[in-house]
Amino acid sequence: MFLKNCWYVASQASELGRVLMQRWIIGQPVVLFRSESGQPVAMEDRCPHRRAALSKGRLVGDTVQCGYHGMRFDCSGACVAIPGEEQIPPALKARVYPVVQKWHWVWIWMGDPALADEALIPDLRHNDMPGWTVTGGVLTVNANYQLLTDNLLDLTHETFVHAKTIGNAAVAETPMESKIVGNEVHVQRVMRNTPPPPLFKRVRNLTGNIDRWQIIRFQPPSSISIDARGYPTGTEDPEKGLRWFSINSITPINETSCNYYWTITRCFAQDDAQITDLIHNQILATFMEDVDVLEAQQQMIETDAPNRGEISIRADFGSVAARRINQRLIHKEAQGNARKQGAVPSPEELVKAT
Ligand code: FES
Ligand SMILES: [Fe+2]
Repeated sequence: MFLKNCWYVASQASELGRVLMQRWIIGQPVVLFRSESGQPVAMEDRCPHRRAALSKGRLVGDTVQCGYHGMRFDCSGACVAIPGEEQIPPALKARVYPVVQKWHWVWIWMGDPALADEALIPDLRHNDMPGWTVTGGVLTVNANYQLLTDNLLDLTHETFVHAKTIGNAAVAETPMESKIVGNEVHVQRVMRNTPPPPLFKRVRNLTGNIDRWQIIRFQPPSSISIDARGYPTGTEDPEKGLRWFSINSITPINETSCNYYWTITRCFAQDDAQITDLIHNQILATFMEDVDVLEAQQQMIETDAPNRGEISIRADFGSVAARRINQRLIHKEAQGNARKQGAVPSPEELVKAT
């Protein structure tokens, strides 16, 4: 069960060009490309003729030519050519999804296109902030997307999983404060006068103790930004220390896999390409440590009895809250759809009927 009336990241802006690219999103095949004017376009990757994968065809100007019988579809999904035939049945239309390029990524709306509102794209402005330098990528992970959101909402695991880069004892020893704000979850951990973790030392030559912040914001269904700061104790001076945002958006491929879009965007040493490479490679290695844990966790979950529960502790507040928000939104969306189809009466209809 996935939320449909929301924006998911479909690709990094940099990956999309004049080549047909397939991505599976919430169990649906999507073909993506840029029009000749550079606009991102997304269609269902099923030809409306005999359901061949359109992504196996080719781009002809601003049309997709199906690789099976050669029909061509324009950016609105309309069929504009059938080889050897003059009549085009009006119903022969490919499904087109709303897409928007924003915050370094291309977003797709998989639900009712009439509800697609750009203002609902999660606020990840630090990916595009003037004066900030961004690096990142995408990882395919064989795990349910919510194992990733759980992971990012409780960074206690840094101590045990990421001891080579961003973890040390201080993280697990310092409790978090968490709260729910509307449909968002905010989690914060402040570590005063603690040793810097290995990557902070390397990036900023920090030798003495630091004050360290992790300020996490979850926006449904699966975007998490982390404001990470580490300044020499008592200074709160970004010039002497480190401040970056770890920005993450996770797009379900299906129930058991997802695409994990990530960036690190920073406001120090902006032009230093060596620092960019160091951060990119070390953070990628860090996330691969997560992937290793989460893929094994997914296997354990899949092979276990379906009704076996899990025991939560205080540190799970943020991840449990995020899951509940998603559950509530999915339930609300399903109720709305059922109502549209006449299966469930609205509260007003119920009142009228009594
Ligand atoms: S399946 Fe695409 S043209 Fe026939
Ligand atoms: Fe991690």
